[in-house]
Amino acid sequence: MTSSSEGTFFLTGKDFVKAGTASGSLKRVLEDMGVPSAVVRRAAIAAFEAEMNTIIYAVAGIMHYYVTAEMIKVVIQDMGQGIENIELAMTEGYSTAPDYIREMGFGSGMGLPNIKKNVDKFMLSSVSGEGTTLEFIINLEKT
Ligand SMILES: Nc1ncnc2c1ncn2[C@@H]1O[C@H](COP(=O)(O)OP(=O)(O)OP(=O)(O)O)[C@@H](O)[C@H]1O
Ligand SMILES: [Mg+2]
Repeated sequence: MTSSSEGTFFLTGKDFVKAGTASGSLKRVLEDMGVPSAVVRRAAIAAFEAEMNTIIYAVAGIMHYYVTAEMIKVVIQDMGQGIENIELAMTEGYSTAPDYIREMGFGSGMGLPNIKKNVDKFMLSSVSGEGTTLEFIINLEKT
């Protein structure tokens, strides 16, 4: 596996044309680095859900990734409405998605719980009215 890599993707709120581009690019970076496919899959799921949340609920954001031999770390930071109650937002099935978002197939309230399930370390913080920061780490075990 190539030793390390880092990069940044910019995310624009409501830009559904580009939705999935950042997480898709991260997936290819990891594949090209030789990260095991099961790990790539977990990272891609987590990154996609976080990317979609920024696109759906925020005005703009960035996704930054760092990959070393030990771990994949992804930070998604956005400017937007923020999350008033993190515990509630983490509840399976809880969603504030409006109808037009549900019509696109989102809004099951499973994104955040799904991110948590797929990563080794999960951190979510938010300032209501300002924005949200989600950070996750997936350990890369040495074989
Ligand atoms: N970046 C964010 N900014 C503001 N609110 C957010 C953000 N991410 C999540 N939320 C809030 O947390 C709720 C739960 O998020 P989660 O991703 O679990 O479900 P969802 O996006 O509603 O549906 P799904 O992910 O299943 O399509 C959202 O409905 C929204 O109210
Ligand atoms: Mg979501």
